[in-house]
Amino acid sequence: MKTFLFTCLSLFICIQLHAQNHEESNYDEAKVPTYTLPDVLKTRDNKTVSSKKVWEKNRRPEILALFEDHIYGQVPKSFEDIRFSVISETKNSMNGKSNRKEILIEVFNQGKSVRINLVLFIPNNATKPSPVFLLINNRGKENTDPSRKIISEFWPAEVLIDAGYAIAAFHVSDLAPDNKDEFMNGVMQLYPEQLKADNGMRAIGAWGWGASRVMDYFETESQIDIKRVALVGHSRGGKASLWAAAQDQRFAICITNCSGSTGAALARRQFGERVRRINTSFPHWFNANYKKYNDHEALLPVDQHMLISLIAPRPVYATNASEDLWADPKGTFLSLKNAEGVYGLFGLKSNLPEVAPGLNTPLIESPLAYHNREGKHDMTVYDWKQFIKFADFHFGMGR
Ligand code: GCU
Repeated sequence: MKTFLFTCLSLFICIQLHAQNHEESNYDEAKVPTYTLPDVLKTRDNKTVSSKKVWEKNRRPEILALFEDHIYGQVPKSFEDIRFSVISETKNSMNGKSNRKEILIEVFNQGKSVRINLVLFIPNNATKPSPVFLLINNRGKENTDPSRKIISEFWPAEVLIDAGYAIAAFHVSDLAPDNKDEFMNGVMQLYPEQLKADNGMRAIGAWGWGASRVMDYFETESQIDIKRVALVGHSRGGKASLWAAAQDQRFAICITNCSGSTGAALARRQFGERVRRINTSFPHWFNANYKKYNDHEALLPVDQHMLISLIAPRPVYATNASEDLWADPKGTFLSLKNAEGVYGLFGLKSNLPEVAPGLNTPLIESPLAYHNREGKHDMTVYDWKQFIKFADFHFGMGR
């Protein structure tokens, strides 16, 4: 009898665990499993990393390769040609406050090309090259309307110009249409071998690659201070801003707004959107290998605190919104906290508290910064105003 009861109990526990493990999303803290994060400061052959030299030489490349192989895919570095053309220039846009440029960036490889349309506003009262915020726009193109007939909170260009920053944006569809049947009609055509590889580039990687091509353009633009480029992304765009900044060290600041699963939030918490769900709804975002981790987050060789760590010592600002549990605010804060050790190697101290701050309490004067805004999944003027303060602090704008 005892054995029978024991078997029944074990079976019951097994079924429960299985059911729990297969939930595609979770909003219940009680269901967050006990987890151990991979140690960002321990190499794969179990050596402790205690200097910035060893971090840069061994551990950073090792982690970068793990993210490439298991999640975001390779990032092709070479191409045959890149051309920049000024499509239009309006020196007195925004009532004379700003110079507006529309730039076409064309990249050529293997007989194919991709065209990235960049819109850029530069403050006219600048006496030296301007720091710039670059948005990876994953929402409608009207959000970054060059004519400013539509003024969207998602890209409040006037607010940035008034604060002394240039502001730029490109649309993700120029690089990879955000759709499982069409994402290959963009950058992927320049690198057809990527489609066949299990660790090949996919849409999020393509968007990040696009941000780097804009950086190539900024390097030729005398009105932009290339040492002070802040990359911004919201949600799926925020996953791309993290990956792009991790790859490309020319980005001086990374801002990731409500980026959630496979963005700034820890996967192992299995809170909000889980890996199976994101891979099922958006199979074109991440590489084929990532699908192996559906229901198996604990087997990932990395977690998202390591993605943030790759950006060190450059400042990272991650945000959430109170009604956006899908993006796991707590898991985002914990990601930042668990990256602190790497910033420490550079002598940088994070000012984040032990537990996440309350709503609308931005913690900005820190290389790892955070806020949780009251409200919905979105990027608002409130968020942007905090980004400006963050950049002011780190770029030493001394207002
Ligand atoms: C979906 C998706 C998220 C993503 C979001 C967005 O909700 O599940 O992972 O961040 O779209 O891009 O707005």
